[in-house]
Amino acid sequence: MDSTPSAPTPDGTAPAASPSADLWKRLEERCGRRQFLLKSGWLFFWTFLGGWLLSNLRYLFPNVLYEPTSVFKAGKPKDYSELGIIEKWKKTQRVWLVKTPQGFYCLWARCTHLGCTPNWFDAEGRFKCPCHGSNFNKDGDVIAGPAPKPLWRCAIQLGSDGQMIIDKGRLENRPGSREKGDFFLPTT
Ligand code: FES
Repeated sequence: MDSTPSAPTPDGTAPAASPSADLWKRLEERCGRRQFLLKSGWLFFWTFLGGWLLSNLRYLFPNVLYEPTSVFKAGKPKDYSELGIIEKWKKTQRVWLVKTPQGFYCLWARCTHLGCTPNWFDAEGRFKCPCHGSNFNKDGDVIAGPAPKPLWRCAIQLGSDGQMIIDKGRLENRPGSREKGDFFLPTT
């Protein structure tokens, strides 16, 4: 501790000791310098050990990210009477179901430019992205703007209960591949 005497105040009285210096002094007087240093050492040691143990305990609980499942049921084909773009699942699942005379497919509502969510304009027969102006036709092909690829299609199949099962974790956007296999559900 600093033992340098403080300069006297202008009126000649001794300067008042700071509250913390006062506290240290009282502690030293109370338990003796040696005991005081010993107790301080132990306090430091246990504080350090406690912090170390806590930080290690943290590793017993791994970081688990609970993400919503990518698979959902979209009802039965007969539930959809109208042909065209079905907006029902856009808000909750970020997909459009599309009904054609031959069957169903599912478009992921994520622009292939920078990931914004496009909107469907029925009168114009196209999806338009509000961010940088990419346009897509109802197949998902780019017809304007900077998007480099068609919209992705999600895997779609019929479950044993007759409901369509959409898997947003399996995607395809190549013409030819996207119209068959797991990415198109024929109804005819
Ligand atoms: S994110 Fe859609 S055009 Fe840029």
